[in-house]
Amino acid sequence: MKSFKELQVFIEQQIQEESRRIKTFSPANLYEPIGYTLDMGGKRLRPVLALLAYNMFRDNLEQVIPAALAIEIFHNFTLLHDDIMDKADVRRNQPTVHKKYSENVAILSGDAMSILAYQYLLKSPSGNLRQMGELFSKTAIEICEGQQYDMDFETRDNVSIDEYLNMIRLKTAVLLACSLKIGALAAEAPTQTADQLYDFGINLGLAFQLQDDWLDVFADQKKFGKRIGGDIVSNKKTFLLLKALELSKGTTNQSLQEWIKKENFDPEEKIAAITAIYQQLDISEITLQTIETYYQSALKIWKELDLHISQKSELLILAKRVIERDR
Ligand code: IPE
Ligand code: IPE
Ligand code: MG
Ligand code: MG
Ligand code: MG
Repeated sequence: MKSFKELQVFIEQQIQEESRRIKTFSPANLYEPIGYTLDMGGKRLRPVLALLAYNMFRDNLEQVIPAALAIEIFHNFTLLHDDIMDKADVRRNQPTVHKKYSENVAILSGDAMSILAYQYLLKSPSGNLRQMGELFSKTAIEICEGQQYDMDFETRDNVSIDEYLNMIRLKTAVLLACSLKIGALAAEAPTQTADQLYDFGINLGLAFQLQDDWLDVFADQKKFGKRIGGDIVSNKKTFLLLKALELSKGTTNQSLQEWIKKENFDPEEKIAAITAIYQQLDISEITLQTIETYYQSALKIWKELDLHISQKSELLILAKRVIERDR
């Protein structure tokens, strides 16, 4: 079994190779931005999860490369469109595609990436290809559902924590879960183990998105690579904001409501004001504790995995890294 770091290096090489190839396609205005996106880096978490799950059962990693590439390309497609929807100018410390090129380019190159993802998936030599395709398309449509809830919630003022959790399950957690299960399916692993890996991925994915929401407020921008406070500016109903709305009273609650309603404001002033309220209410600590509970749920599933410790230890090392990340 390879370590997750070895898998990261391995898949990075494959991505770079594909990126070089894609950049030679015409028209350049469609394909060059795809290469730009794939070259921007990123943690490569999802393809590493797919490789890791596969590697629990088999060593011939080249067989899972097409599925791993499909997942990373699909993930990057969602980022292109997400950055238009979220009006985000910076990602991975570089200008986002709609800023560097144009919105139209980000839409169409994104569309092409989602199709390329299916082309890569179809190259999988696994006997379970049909199941992999069904899981992949179910996941893809769920991400759209999650993204729509995310947008709907921006202008709703009565979003519950349960609705939030369902939204992040759809927009984020299902893709981490799918990555693990696709790796297991590609390896033709026992169905029960594949399903347990999926559930592990859901819990890890919830923790991951909660961490992303936390980082959006409290990270070091240089490390995080995205603009700090973006969620605050756009009234994203993150766990942090929902908890603050729930826990605040009197003038603090009033001030929070006012900031949410304001149409004309200085973004930096709004970020500072809401961050100060978060600090006053200990929202950071509460969020970190909630991340820990999802990590513990994942851990419980991990313990139940009917695999030798040498097959499954690397997954736990990676999960721990994910919830302690600073980018
Ligand atoms: C960003 O995902 C989108 C979310 C689901 C929060 P990552 O944080 O995995 O982004 P990269 O690929 O490492 O840049
Ligand atoms: C990401 O949610 C979900 C998807 C891209 C599907 P965010 O909007 O929080 O992701 P970032 O923070 O922009 O990476
Ligand atoms: Mg978003
Ligand atoms: Mg975003
Ligand atoms: Mg975010």
